[in-house]
Formats: sequence, structure tokens, C-alpha cells
Amino acid sequence: MKNIVILISGRGSNMEAIVKACAGEQWPARIAAVISNRPDAAGLAFAAAHGVPTVVVDHKAFADREAFDAELARQIDAFAPDLVVLAGFMRILTPGFTRHYEGRMLNIHPSLLPAFTGLHTHQRALQAGCQFAGATVHFVTAELDHGPIVAQAVAAVQPGDDEAALAARVLKLEHRMYPAAVRWFVEGQLGIADGRVRQLGGQAQAFS
Ligand code: GAR
Repeated sequence: MKNIVILISGRGSNMEAIVKACAGEQWPARIAAVISNRPDAAGLAFAAAHGVPTVVVDHKAFADREAFDAELARQIDAFAPDLVVLAGFMRILTPGFTRHYEGRMLNIHPSLLPAFTGLHTHQRALQAGCQFAGATVHFVTAELDHGPIVAQAVAAVQPGDDEAALAARVLKLEHRMYPAAVRWFVEGQLGIADGRVRQLGGQAQAFS
């Protein structure tokens, strides 16, 4: 049984998709905890209702990022995680933290990386006239939104799309892609070697 710890900051719909897939598809894993940096994160209620332990580490209570990340790591490590999953976790992480979880921490980012790192990805994709948008699952490294890419989901931009419409279309794909990627990891089919993704079993990696 692999232990998965999921970090959220808000709605938690990707976390929800992973919790449901883990139970429904009987992964060799358990969701050991859901941890939020915000006490008011809506996703905490879903996790608690599904019997998943929840923890809040409120970033506002810490003097700096180092102190916050140290306490966050202490709380995560109490659950002996094999994998840490960032699911809408909106904090910039310190290099020491990312190093500690190297090769065992995944993130989902709402763009086709390496395009549009950072915030407001869909709005920027629309402004740039992109014909396709999407989301990327990647291993987390010290450089924000730059780790080795595991999977990508592609959605066509449609006439009249605004940020909300495009985000909703991409989010549906995120809910399929992220559980699949986490499942690959807990089934031992995914890892990194020499800074590149190593994937056994040859799964399709594009979601559209
Ligand atoms: C998702 O679209 C995810 O890709 C994005 O936040 C949303 C969280 O939704 N993540 C980032 O922007 C990370 N930089 P959720 O809380 O419903 O899963």
C-alpha cells in the first residue's frame, strides 16, 4: 500500500477526482491525508466526509517561506508519504522543500508547459491567440512549473471562449489526467531518472 498526501489551497476538485479514483479503481494506495494552507479551503469538507484525515497549515501563521515549508514537511512526513500530490496548491515552494520530495512530488498546472508558467494561464493563452490550451502533470523541481513532464491534456480554444469557459473545458480533462498519472506512480510505472520521466508500460500520455 502506497501512501499519498494531497496538498490543496481551495476547491479541491482534482483532489476529489483522485480520492474517488483511488477508491473506485482499487489502487494499491491510500489517500493518507489532505493538507491545506488555507483553513477555508472548500475541498477539506469533501476529504473529511470521505474519511480522509485533514490538516491545515496556515501559511499566514509563519514569518517566512522557510518556516512554513518546514512545518508543512513535518506534517506531510507524519503520514510517511510515497507520493505528494499538489492539487491546486497555490504556494511557491522553497528549494529545500522541493529537494526533500524530489522524484515523489507531482503538480498539475493549467497550461501546456513550458508555455504560460505562473498565474492566469487561460487568460494569457486567449490573449496570445492560442488555438489550443490545456494542462500538464509534471514532477516538481525547484524551478516553478518546470519539472519533467508526465502527461498533458489538450483542449481546442473555441470561438467566443472566455477565461471561465476555457478553464472549465480544461478542468474536465484535468480530472481524467491527474488520477491516471497518480495511478501510474503508485503502480510503479512512473519515476524519474537523470532528470527525465521514466515510464514503464507505454501508456498514452495525451488527454483530449
Ligand atoms: C486547477 O485548474 C489546477 O490546474 C490549478 O488550479 C486549479 C485547482 O482546481 N493549479 C494551478 O494553478 C497551480 N499553479 P481544484 O482546486 O478544483 O483542483
